[in-house]
Amino acid sequence: MRSDVAPGDVRAQLPAQPPEEPEPLSAVLSDLDRVIVPGLTQWQHPGFFGYFPAGTSGPSALAELATAGLGGQGMLWSTSPAATELETHVLDWLAELLGLPARFRGRGVIQDTASSATLCALLAARERAAAGGRELTVMASSEAHSALDKAVAVAGLEREAIVRVPVDARQRLDPAALADLLAAQDGPVFLVATAGTTSTGAFDPLDAIAAAVADRDVWLHVDGAWAGTAAVCPELRWVGEGLGAADSYVTNPHKWLLTAIDCSALWVADPTWLERALTVTPEYLRNAASDSGAVIDYRDWQIGLGRRFRALKLWFVLRLIGAEGLRAHVRRHVALAQRLAARVDDHPRLHLAAPAELALVCVTHAEGDAATQRLLEAINADPQLLVTHTRVDGRLVLRVAIGGARTTERHVDHLWQVLARAA
Ligand SMILES: Cc1ncc(COP(=O)(O)O)c(C=O)c1O
Repeated sequence: MRSDVAPGDVRAQLPAQPPEEPEPLSAVLSDLDRVIVPGLTQWQHPGFFGYFPAGTSGPSALAELATAGLGGQGMLWSTSPAATELETHVLDWLAELLGLPARFRGRGVIQDTASSATLCALLAARERAAAGGRELTVMASSEAHSALDKAVAVAGLEREAIVRVPVDARQRLDPAALADLLAAQDGPVFLVATAGTTSTGAFDPLDAIAAAVADRDVWLHVDGAWAGTAAVCPELRWVGEGLGAADSYVTNPHKWLLTAIDCSALWVADPTWLERALTVTPEYLRNAASDSGAVIDYRDWQIGLGRRFRALKLWFVLRLIGAEGLRAHVRRHVALAQRLAARVDDHPRLHLAAPAELALVCVTHAEGDAATQRLLEAINADPQLLVTHTRVDGRLVLRVAIGGARTTERHVDHLWQVLARAA
């Protein structure tokens, strides 16, 4: 499932020159199977447990085909009104399904990735700070995704200047330490809290964070890239508790919600700052609808000008799979992960490196890093399995992220057998 090609192998099989005459489709498809697919890691394989899932589905693929066939460009409302209005509408549907606060209604946008969403939120916060003539300070815990470091670099701020808020023993941002840091802070702050960290799935305590930032000049951005969509299940709504104080929130349907990458949902409570940061209007883009102020031009809510019609795939997924279908998908993975976690917990030589959150199980070997490394290698030596790793408090940790559309009990049982045998 993991491609074992060496660097340069794929290019070596491709002709140096592009074709002068059209080739038959059969030749292209045959090369797709022969040259390209062996060079791809099979993210949709049911034994893929690496990173976080990159979901897709028939409805999503169909919509991608329709999007490509329609070939439109929705940079402005006027360049494809339905693309803009459907996007606002499906993000309202998603906000409803996730139980998001009313302040986000009508204020959603689809970004290519959560990284872009975080960058946009940072730029909006900087705009707000600049309007008050102040410089922005960026704060987050060490467990915030590296997308923040990149956003800070792209925004031209000092990467080293990110103020790291300490975490507790479960890798959650410590709200008391945050309150102390904020008390010592004079100017405006961009604070990233994470609902479901990448390493261990830890949830920063959003309610306590909301209390710490109340009455302070803080732009609170919540990153729920992976875990956020679990809130389609009413019993998992807690993943978004405390979002009432957030200025922006991102979650990726392209991770766990059967919608192919790229589809990252960002909501902003007050889009004014985003628009002020990102609107540049040359004469050739001027039009009556934009001038009227009655429409959203999504080019002003993202970095690039041109944009794909991504809302169509979320619309197809929501309509053809339905909320109940999505809930069943999430529940199945959570149940599989919790069963695996219980087995790990019962094993004399295996430990849970962190409480198993939702569908992520983090495992270490009792004998330390070398033994954990052997577990990783044993699992990844099996062509039916793929897992990845992280480090927690300096220790090597094996991550099992369950989320494949075709992953069943059989596949997780197989992983467990290989893991237990290697332990
Ligand atoms: C918590 C979190 N935030 C952000 C990201 C970055 O997501 P993207 O690839 O959409 O930029 C990830 C990726 O796994 C993530 O887990």
